[in-house]
Amino acid sequence: MIKLENLCKTYGKDESAVAAVNNVNLTVNDGELVAIIGKSGSGKTTLLNLIGLLDKADEGKIICNDNEITSFDDNKASDFRLNHIGFVFQFFDLLPELTAAENILLPSRLAKKKAENYKEITESLGLSERLNHYPSQLSGGQQQRVAIARAMINDPEILLCDEPTGNLDEKSGNEVMDLLVKMNRKQHKTIVIITHNPEIAERCSRTVEISDGKIISA
Ligand SMILES: Nc1ncnc2c1ncn2[C@@H]1O[C@H](COP(=O)(O)OP(=O)(O)OP(=O)(O)O)[C@@H](O)[C@H]1O
Ligand SMILES: [Mg+2]
Repeated sequence: MIKLENLCKTYGKDESAVAAVNNVNLTVNDGELVAIIGKSGSGKTTLLNLIGLLDKADEGKIICNDNEITSFDDNKASDFRLNHIGFVFQFFDLLPELTAAENILLPSRLAKKKAENYKEITESLGLSERLNHYPSQLSGGQQQRVAIARAMINDPEILLCDEPTGNLDEKSGNEVMDLLVKMNRKQHKTIVIITHNPEIAERCSRTVEISDGKIISA
């Protein structure tokens, strides 16, 4: 479970201050597939980055699996990210000098874990024939599937996806969404997906709408 309590994040100071996340309260239960929608600049990415401890909240708490993760120091935060959270981004964010296989295995190396599910993950994502390719030799859809495999390799309970289909054509976007839905249903992963696409939001179990840093419907 992810529980956000009175979460706030402001960028800048005085007249230029922007309340990117403004007193947000939200609970995402285990195994939910939640879409976050809202206009550009409404605070979606900021919110996701706070949940994933990629950014620090100014006020409020995030409770995750009974831990108040907002109180973690940097070491504990990176440990938590590595073991409990998988990230998928709009522009894939693969390392260009590493092969698909090396990109996928990087988090397990950093966590000093055995990638026991490597074969299963890469097969289920249809990547078996592409593992020795570099990102520049892969299509957008393939790169995003590599990014999903990387996000899954340490078997996190939570996947945070920031517009995972935003840079893909409709067909590849739907395929990526099929895979995320499958991981939610079969492996009970808790998944939060930021999207601008109403069809992607439709396929989630719940939609949360944000406007000006506040939740306007959940
Ligand atoms: N590092 C930063 N420094 C200053 N302001 C920021 C920073 N990051 C975000 N903001 C501001 O915070 C607000 C929320 O930004 P955020 O990126 O969370 O929006 P978003 O909903 O993800 O938008 P988009 O749909 O365009 O990705 C915006 O007004 C943005 O300009
Ligand atoms: Mg964003």
